Amino acid sequence: MIVRGPLWRSLIGLGLLAGAPLSIPAFAQPVAPSPEAPTGRTAKSTSVATKDMVAAANPLAAQAGREILAAGGSAADAAVAVQLVLNLVEPQSSGIGGGAFMVFWDGTAMTTLDGREKAPAAAKPERFLGPDGKPMKFYDAVVGGRSVGVPGTIRLIEIAHKKWGKLPWKQVIEPAIRLAENGFTISPRLNGLLSQEKYLQNDPLARAYFYDAEGKPKAVGTVLKNPAFAQTLRAIADKGADAFYTGDIAQDIVATVTGHAINPGDMTLDDLKSYVVEERPAVCGPYRVYKICGMGPPSSGQIAVQQILGVLETQDMAAMKPGPDAVHWISEAGRLAFADRGLYVADPAFVSVPVKGLTDPGYLKSRAALVDPNKSMGKAKPGEPPFQKTFLWGASDGIEYGTSHMSIVDRNGNAVSMTTTIEDGFGARLMTKSGFLLNNELTDFSFTTVEDGKPVANRVEANKRPRSSMAPTIVLDNGNKLYAVVGSPGGSLIINYVAKTLVGILDWKLDPQVAADLPNIGSRNGPTELEAGTESEAWKAALEAKGHDVKLIDQNSGIHAIVVTPAGLIGGADSRREGVAIGN
Ligand code: DON
Repeated sequence: MIVRGPLWRSLIGLGLLAGAPLSIPAFAQPVAPSPEAPTGRTAKSTSVATKDMVAAANPLAAQAGREILAAGGSAADAAVAVQLVLNLVEPQSSGIGGGAFMVFWDGTAMTTLDGREKAPAAAKPERFLGPDGKPMKFYDAVVGGRSVGVPGTIRLIEIAHKKWGKLPWKQVIEPAIRLAENGFTISPRLNGLLSQEKYLQNDPLARAYFYDAEGKPKAVGTVLKNPAFAQTLRAIADKGADAFYTGDIAQDIVATVTGHAINPGDMTLDDLKSYVVEERPAVCGPYRVYKICGMGPPSSGQIAVQQILGVLETQDMAAMKPGPDAVHWISEAGRLAFADRGLYVADPAFVSVPVKGLTDPGYLKSRAALVDPNKSMGKAKPGEPPFQKTFLWGASDGIEYGTSHMSIVDRNGNAVSMTTTIEDGFGARLMTKSGFLLNNELTDFSFTTVEDGKPVANRVEANKRPRSSMAPTIVLDNGNKLYAVVGSPGGSLIINYVAKTLVGILDWKLDPQVAADLPNIGSRNGPTELEAGTESEAWKAALEAKGHDVKLIDQNSGIHAIVVTPAGLIGGADSRREGVAIGN
């Protein structure tokens, strides 16, 4: 059952989220998936559950996760099922041809897994420069084999399952095999994105799979089967991720990447065989009474979110409420965070990232002191954090559609926050014979190699992982207990989406559905960005009066969040996309 937002908002107003020991409400029954929303905004209601919950970007994927949880599976088991079904039903965003970050909470320890794609051993810094030495046009770089990084997602979910899984590997893969064999219906969102797509039709396998004989996207409701992907999953079910990194599937990936007629890549079988998922220390920092944890480098996500929150902590955000004053502080904090992100963050195997200095509360207080409450600073300069080691520069990136976020809590209180991507919508626009799309993650590297006479931290290098903005987040309360699981797709805007949602939940005490649906706002150290078509448009004049250069842009977040209360789990799925939060 789905409970309407206002009721939950009033319960929260009564102190539910503050931790008052209430009994489980009678309406906290298992919830049914809501109907798929078309592309664009569709109002959604807050979901509640008593035992466990999945919030994910597509109802079929969330349902697969819920099925696994109901069978006694852990959050990690459910994440495997959700990811593999997403590969089928939301193929534009994530899959085994891409990479991911997972943050896992087991009740006492926070672990992060880095399944980010890596550059092939043959990659050189000039990879994305044209013959004239200038950066290539974005889609000239994206489409084809050049942009494809060695995928990490399948090894990541295998490791998560080995560490924290309770059900057999074959069982957690089964829902995706079933859907690949029996088919699933094309959603309005997938159909809409296929209609806008310019490059995918040029790939013969993708064209045959997604388009009809006349080259039109297969209609909404068409049952799509993917026997090649079912066969791939059966091989992985039998032999584990090794079936992907060696043998027929690996050969198929290499042939697809290197065989592109116009823009071939240089990935080898060795690159695939030598790929490893890195377990890294979680990056955690305080925000008021809470502890916020997430993914460290090569992601800039948690560092930047923590930097924004560190500045906001100097203000009474609860008293400010959503409006121009809050946007002023959040966007000024964003400017400062993005200035540091550009200079300092890249793959830690190549660049010594001063994570501790960048998230040091004293340093963040000194950054907050740069904010004038009455006037925008315009462009922020990077700071000089303590423990500083790097002096390198990076480039900025834009708005994309190729990522997905899932939040999962199981009945034992374990949690997964996982953001997963093939980078741009439909990735490199290359479909393998094995039935999945390949990522274009290498275009997350800086195209330029030198700036201001200094080497760029995030330049392409052999075997390096491109910098990410993905910010899968887990919040603990002051008793070190699980409080919230949050994340979003959206390229570099992810940082602002997550920061806004955390302020909504932690300061404004909004339920996660309402917090996700708040207008997206912030700054990436350029203009102050408000979300076109939302109430934030009304805040423009007040911000301009403070000197902000305001731009109204589409900010198509896909925030999926769960909050833990004494009365049960409350979930929200971004109204801008087709996802749901459902549980048992
Ligand atoms: O890792 C990153 O930051 C990007 N490749 C994420 C791309 C993304 O979020 C696309 N989204 N909608």
